[in-house]
Amino acid sequence: MDNLDQLVIDARAAFAEASAAAALEQAKARFFGKNGLITEQLKALGGLPPERKRERGAEVNRAKAAIEAALAERREALREAELSAQLQAESLDVTLPGRGSAPGGLHPVSRSLERIERLFQSIGFVAVDGPEIETDWHNFTALNIPADHPARSMHDTFFLEGREDVLLRTHTSPVQIRAMLAHVEQTRDCDPMPDLRVIMPGRVYRVDSDATHSPMFHQAEGLWVGERVSFADLKGVVADFLCKFFETDDLQVRFRPSFFPFTEPSAEVDVAFKGGALDGRWLEVAGCGMVHPNVLRFGGIDPERYTGFAFGFGPDRLTMLRYGVSDLRLFFEGDLRFLSQFR
Ligand code: PHE
Repeated sequence: MDNLDQLVIDARAAFAEASAAAALEQAKARFFGKNGLITEQLKALGGLPPERKRERGAEVNRAKAAIEAALAERREALREAELSAQLQAESLDVTLPGRGSAPGGLHPVSRSLERIERLFQSIGFVAVDGPEIETDWHNFTALNIPADHPARSMHDTFFLEGREDVLLRTHTSPVQIRAMLAHVEQTRDCDPMPDLRVIMPGRVYRVDSDATHSPMFHQAEGLWVGERVSFADLKGVVADFLCKFFETDDLQVRFRPSFFPFTEPSAEVDVAFKGGALDGRWLEVAGCGMVHPNVLRFGGIDPERYTGFAFGFGPDRLTMLRYGVSDLRLFFEGDLRFLSQFR
């Protein structure tokens, strides 16, 4: 076989072997480079006699053209292979099930807090909040809790390290004081002072932990102060709220005499459901009472002229009752198997 034919065969084989563009360019250099096999053939033409030169020249050119064609063909093939590999790699398998977007949801206690806010807003209460890190004065003193009251002992209260005057609030009642002071400030020019009606949900903290107590829990404080606010108003507002919250008129509500330093008289609110697992059992859901004159005074309000009532609900307890949950800790462990049931 003519060595030119062999060259073309070798070139085709070399190009076929190149599996990427760079390797193909190297293979090309073997034939068309400065000392390439085809280049050598072209150079060799110079030493031939004229008639032989023309004939041989034509043959070399044919071989050259064949090799160039093979090169172009291989280039094109590699380009296509590369493209289809890329398409393959980037392709979407539309038959794969999607990852899905797991719908989030509000925590059951957050739902209760929003519900409480909404129900009280519907009767003219304004939702406000206060700091969870609170001063001893707002949390105790201004609420008529004297220095030797057991609620002040280290047993109940988380104090900030190295501070005696700053603590994690043990209830939402200090927001009563803040709300009164702010209201008095804002209505300074009004006579009489317009009624103050606020609902104050939030987190509170006590050194306490078991199946029904968590060191962090929630309260929703309510306060209504005005010229003729009475215990009857308190009973109506609280009983009405509870029926709306539990979406039933078949709810018994009882006010049981109790004691709080910041209310006088004071009561504990119990509810009893008709039917269900808790049928007929009295369950405590709130503390309440008429705002103590000393507390009104600390809030900058004249107790001779204005009266008020306050209450503090336990939204965690309300949530447990509403959904039939028996262990408070479930709410705060963050277990999605439990929480996702409330989505
Ligand atoms: N602050 C009281 C508690 O934590 C509840 C309460 C609020 C009682 C308002 C009376 C009035 O137990």
